[in-house]
Amino acid sequence: MPDSALIAAPPAVRVRGAHVRLGRATVFDDLAFSAEAGRFTGILGPSGVGKTTLLKLIAGLLPADGAFIGDERGNRLSGCIAWMAQKDLLLPWLTVAENVRLGARLRGEPGGRDKARALLAAVGLEGRADDRPDTLSGGQRQRVALARTLMEDRPVVLMDEPFSAVDPLTRIGLQDLAARMLAGRTVVFVTHDPLEALRLGHAVFVLSGAPATARPIPLPADAWPRAADAPGVLAAQAEILRALAS
Ligand SMILES: Nc1ncnc2c1ncn2[C@@H]1O[C@H](COP(=O)(O)OP(=O)(O)OP(=O)(O)O)[C@@H](O)[C@H]1O
Ligand SMILES: [Mg+2]
Repeated sequence: MPDSALIAAPPAVRVRGAHVRLGRATVFDDLAFSAEAGRFTGILGPSGVGKTTLLKLIAGLLPADGAFIGDERGNRLSGCIAWMAQKDLLLPWLTVAENVRLGARLRGEPGGRDKARALLAAVGLEGRADDRPDTLSGGQRQRVALARTLMEDRPVVLMDEPFSAVDPLTRIGLQDLAARMLAGRTVVFVTHDPLEALRLGHAVFVLSGAPATARPIPLPADAWPRAADAPGVLAAQAEILRALAS
């Protein structure tokens, strides 16, 4: 477990000089990417451009091959990272609460039951702790996945299309929940939804090209998390759609 000082002062994420070849594709050739400490950074881009690959690089799930991947002080990020995937990956034979404790279970760590229940209450699932995941809706399952991510209590959270499997209104609710529960951590999230990027991103990048590069999108100054109908959000959506098309 990272110490609480790291949660209080989370690291930035820096990627420098990343080269990745997968199959016949050169996904990155000298990619640079930064996510600021304690902020939400959104990544958009067409399918296959390398968004998941970038998250995997940051998480240390791909070889760095000479790239620097670490924080603003030159330290590695190992042990700092929690991952929330597009598919919620809840295990059907475990209860909701046991799924929240999955990381600890896999590490053979006892305890954490009270914390798991407190987190389930915090994401609005009090009373569902002993149910099986297949009795929950898609949005409720994503809440469990968020509680499980929070259970890991890491200063850096990587989210790969975390809310793509739910309807637009549920999605807005989950975005607000994520903003509330993950505020202050360094969050890098991938989304195909320009509105989601604009609601949650303190910074937003569009990945494009082959090999891909990351281009920052100018953002409206509205209060974070930005309202879907905030002034400036519509205009910024148009900017993102242009960047995605170019
Ligand atoms: N294990 C692999 N072997 C070979 N090629 C791969 C592998 N994983 C990914 N790729 C290729 O690398 C490129 C980037 O894939 P990646 O999964 O990062 O895309 P993505 O931007 O996350 O797309 P999506 O929006 O569809 O999730 C794609 O061209 C993909 O086909
Ligand atoms: Mg992907």
